[in-house]
Amino acid sequence: MSESIMGASPRRIDGRLKVTGRAQYAADQHPKDMVFAYGVYSTIASGSIKLLDIEVARRSTGVIEILHHGNFPQAFHTAPVPFSLAGVLTGSRTDEKRLPFEDEVIRYAGQFVALVIADTFEHAREAAYKVKVGYAGGASFANLKQGLKQGAPADGGQGHKRGNPAKAFDDGVQTVDATYTTPVETHNPMEMHATVALWENGKLVVYESTQSVVVHRNTLAQIFGLPTEHVEVRAPFIGSGFGGKLWIWPHSVAACAAAKVVGRPVQLIVPRAQMFTTVGHRPETQQRMRLAADAKGKLVSLRHESLNTTGFGDQYVENCGSMSASLYSCANVEITHGIVQVNRGAPTSMRAPGAAPGLFALESAIDELAEKCRMDPLAFRQLNWAEQNEQEKLPWSGNHLREALAQGAERFGWVKRTPEIGSMRDGHEVIGYGMAQCNWDALRTPAEARVSLKSDGRAVVYCGAQDIGTGTYTVIAQCVSDITGLPLDRIEVELGNSSYPPAPVSGGSWVTASVLPAVAEATRAALTQLKSFAASADGGFATSKADAIKVSNGRLEDGSTSLGFADVLNRLKIASAEGNAHTGMADTAKHAFSSFGAHFVEVRWDPGISRLRVSRVVSAIDVGKIINAKTARNQVEGAIVMAIGMALFESADYDERNAMPVNNNYAEYMVPVHADQPDIDVILLDYPDYNLNEFGARGVGEIGVTGLAAAVANAVYHATGKRVRDLPISLEKLMDGVPIISV
Ligand code: MOS
Repeated sequence: MSESIMGASPRRIDGRLKVTGRAQYAADQHPKDMVFAYGVYSTIASGSIKLLDIEVARRSTGVIEILHHGNFPQAFHTAPVPFSLAGVLTGSRTDEKRLPFEDEVIRYAGQFVALVIADTFEHAREAAYKVKVGYAGGASFANLKQGLKQGAPADGGQGHKRGNPAKAFDDGVQTVDATYTTPVETHNPMEMHATVALWENGKLVVYESTQSVVVHRNTLAQIFGLPTEHVEVRAPFIGSGFGGKLWIWPHSVAACAAAKVVGRPVQLIVPRAQMFTTVGHRPETQQRMRLAADAKGKLVSLRHESLNTTGFGDQYVENCGSMSASLYSCANVEITHGIVQVNRGAPTSMRAPGAAPGLFALESAIDELAEKCRMDPLAFRQLNWAEQNEQEKLPWSGNHLREALAQGAERFGWVKRTPEIGSMRDGHEVIGYGMAQCNWDALRTPAEARVSLKSDGRAVVYCGAQDIGTGTYTVIAQCVSDITGLPLDRIEVELGNSSYPPAPVSGGSWVTASVLPAVAEATRAALTQLKSFAASADGGFATSKADAIKVSNGRLEDGSTSLGFADVLNRLKIASAEGNAHTGMADTAKHAFSSFGAHFVEVRWDPGISRLRVSRVVSAIDVGKIINAKTARNQVEGAIVMAIGMALFESADYDERNAMPVNNNYAEYMVPVHADQPDIDVILLDYPDYNLNEFGARGVGEIGVTGLAAAVANAVYHATGKRVRDLPISLEKLMDGVPIISV
């Protein structure tokens, strides 16, 4: 057993397949006789379909079929059972509650109106353009401001109250009452959503770019009225998802229905413009923060009132207050959420849902309060650290936030910060230092896995998880190597197939913490079986009892005999030793599980040419034991880049006249590019959290995106004196004489 492999930094075991182009993504699948589907998408955002003329399109070259409301095959709604962590292996979920083509009502631009199936992609697209649609337009609500005209927001739940926050606010020595807004952001992973669907003898096989082959399978089975064994979803490789591929979207249902109707495999790729409409987004938020501190800078009142937009027919709640009730010690707290319907597709989780916009508001407001208290923002946070989770009244399973603050500040050189606005300069550039805390749940779900020790010397893991680009293949192989002593090149990891033992959604940053325990237990079970084989007659260890046999470096040993795993199997002519495992959740009655960290950001503002750059980021992250520092660091770095997009660039805008998307393309929806990248330094604290699992590992995927936008805004304030409360921090908001545009 090597102690080094867990916590070492091996390269991705799937890296070679990816860089040589041999990794097969959903749209790379071309089953025999496959045909192509292309959507006709609504060109209005609100109203209804009054006329659908498919005659010309139907005669267009290569067209096989055109599906629409009038001829779409029977489909069913998913069971109205809320999705739960405990039920992650058997649950189903859609965020857009309406089935595609279910009615002729248009609720958002880009909604499926018809689906053309043709012999080539080009023929399908050409015919789609020839479908004539007549609409009756209705009143539209383009954004939160317009949506609020419909009346009071609906209660979004997930609230919390303790103490008397109103009184404590009134009694506070220093207070902040400010409203922060965040715009619509889209996931837009590099790999667009794609489905290849085929029916074989009544069984539905689907290649999908999905963050959960298991939930996708479960959901499709319900929609098409099939037993789950009659549906198989495959996703061996995924070009990221960021939450946009957690749950099923209309295109997948449409492709499966199309394949059924035409009796041939169908490929449907969601075009880039529709990546902004029919596959979810992070909704717009408006968050009023009311904070108060006493004379010593102790936080005495925290109110976080959040509103977010949702689609018509959907009730998506962006849980912005999720971290506000527990990140700081505060006796008087109130968290509320409200939702407002607008003419957009259904929103969904996007990397650190709730916490990403929520901590922009919270960590900006804390910065404002610290300044009012004339305290260094770092010192303010150190003073207000929460020793336990005051919302759940539970001790933390592990909280190394103070170490993160100290180590991050040290590495960054926070001590060099002078508090006066615009006081740090480098030539013609003004330098700003800002910081913020980051925080995300540390979750663990049920999971299953099977491990097969083969007579050819390989160990093969089968698990219905998937690797969305985070390194799941690699950490699973490390885990098997750790227990068996086999080198990584003798371990194969099979993921991304719903027929494998069920494993959770790749979301919530919970896969590593949830799946590794199942893989470990299955590996040990396979070794137990192998030892029993070894101790049997002709097994090679006939004089030893099975439990006297030890595992070492991929071999079995009892002090006198040493045989490779495969030697034992071959002596007995047995193909493999097998182990299965089902592992459960963490004990959330005893501990509160969370990950913590701190971001320190340097910005450079050149007022002469109005140029703003994030020049340096140091992030210290407390996510338990680090299994693979290379993939873990990559997650945090990627999250920081994504959060720079959130801070400075990203905003999907909708025309107030008709709720049509304005910038539904990569030219006008701005994301950070290489030239926008700062020098990023990630400190991984590496304190194991054994309350969560035997390895002490928590998840890493999401935490880095939280708090970073606030750290940037706080640094921008320090440099310029402009407190930008409405993301993104676009340049006109920093120019002298240009008023800050407020919603
Ligand atoms: Mo994440 S938003 O749970 O993919």
